[in-house]
Amino acid sequence: MRCRLAAPLALAALLAALAPRPAAATFHIKSALLRELGGAGAGGTRAARPARSSPTGCPFSGNAAIDNKLDVPESLRDIVKGVDFPGDSGVAPDVPPPWLDRAKFERGQAFARKNFFSLAYAEVLSLIINFLFPGELQPLIFTQRSSTVYSSYKRYLDTVNRVKSWYESDPWKVGSVAYQNMATVRGYHLDASRRLTQLAQTDPQTLKLNTTFGLNGDPAHIWSGPMVERMCEDARAAACPSDYVDAVLKDRDVTTRVHLNQFDMALTQFAFSGLIATYPERFGLHGNLERELDAFCHVWAALGYALGIEDKYNFNLGGLAATRQRTRDVLEHLVRPRLRTVNRDWEHMLRVLFEGLALYVPGSSFDASMLFLMETLGLPAPRLGAQVGRNARLVTSTMTFFMEGVMRVPSVRTWANQELANNLRRANGASARWDDGIRRRSYRYEYLPFPGRYQCS
Ligand code: HEM
Repeated sequence: MRCRLAAPLALAALLAALAPRPAAATFHIKSALLRELGGAGAGGTRAARPARSSPTGCPFSGNAAIDNKLDVPESLRDIVKGVDFPGDSGVAPDVPPPWLDRAKFERGQAFARKNFFSLAYAEVLSLIINFLFPGELQPLIFTQRSSTVYSSYKRYLDTVNRVKSWYESDPWKVGSVAYQNMATVRGYHLDASRRLTQLAQTDPQTLKLNTTFGLNGDPAHIWSGPMVERMCEDARAAACPSDYVDAVLKDRDVTTRVHLNQFDMALTQFAFSGLIATYPERFGLHGNLERELDAFCHVWAALGYALGIEDKYNFNLGGLAATRQRTRDVLEHLVRPRLRTVNRDWEHMLRVLFEGLALYVPGSSFDASMLFLMETLGLPAPRLGAQVGRNARLVTSTMTFFMEGVMRVPSVRTWANQELANNLRRANGASARWDDGIRRRSYRYEYLPFPGRYQCS
């Protein structure tokens, strides 16, 4: 397949190509690492941490007793209870939700088709956030369908195609492409949660080993440099520890968690809709779009229902206003503290994702996207900025200029969407030879040793 570089972020692509690669890493199993992992979702006793404080004053610190002190904002009070329930309600695939407004749903689908470029970028950025939650990241490491650049490229290309079909046809009409994809995805989810649950019961130690790269000898390589440490330093200055988030979400221990639960599903709805609904201009959407964005939230409420999310956990029920409130609360109360918990699994899965994406969306850069996200969330990241270097910072500024300025021109928006559609078409029609070339490519991280820490200190 010939991948034309006339992409929406062409300038950013050029700059990204010039950007230095992060320090590469090969990661060998070590007893010290095993000790570190004890407190990082791999079971074991969590070492006592010294009490910490932040300039704003933290509700909890260190290992403070947190039971009965859970401070969950109103908008998320029901949704977080979803951690105890399996993510698929078992709803019939051909029965739409009773509250479905067909006209609104179709208006939301039309909006999504017209603005697919913006939506896709917001979704990719959201994965940086979602991977902060072990319930979202560990099942993906476990299934091994997106752990290398090639597998990740294929996996997310499939994801884009399936989600796109949900914007193009009726998900409840038996035989439609959207309907078939809905069934396939529910099947994937059920299969993954069944396998995870079974292993938790029969062989919890193997489950721990198979849900992190840190403990694995094979593959021994993960792609991670000093970013984790820099992120931690920035996050520590900006947020409190995440103990209360851990207590609310009960997601630290992979052997006891309800896998792919209702909360995890709602958080993925956030990934598809939250940033775009709340910060549309950051993704090139300008003008008064409240009605369209509201319809788009309705689409995601309905798709969530079709995937098995019960109404009380549905992130998008209540429309645009509710989605925005929940998004702000998720970012403030769950994400900010969790930024302190980034680790090498998180970084590796994101780096391979962005590298795979760059094969059909030129200009995709993890470093620049990290900065762009922190800027979007209004979180200062001076150490991260210094770490990623001048070229990545330049790409971030170019992206901001493109999204907030250039995309105001309607013909540019049309062009950006068209380019993405063309690139997707080419990637989907790629020859086996081209695919093979990608599979055989090697990356520096696969060879260089890196005796680094697993997570922030
Ligand atoms: C609104 C919620 C969700 C949507 C719309 C969604 C969407 C999708 C799509 C489109 C695919 C197909 C990918 C392919 O064809 O390769 C997929 C597969 C998959 N999803 Fe989800 N998903 C959601 C929630 C979740 C959650 C919470 C998890 C937990 C980590 C998860 C884990 C998986 C897994 C394990 C697969 C199989 C492919 C793989 O192993 O990576 N999904 N999902």
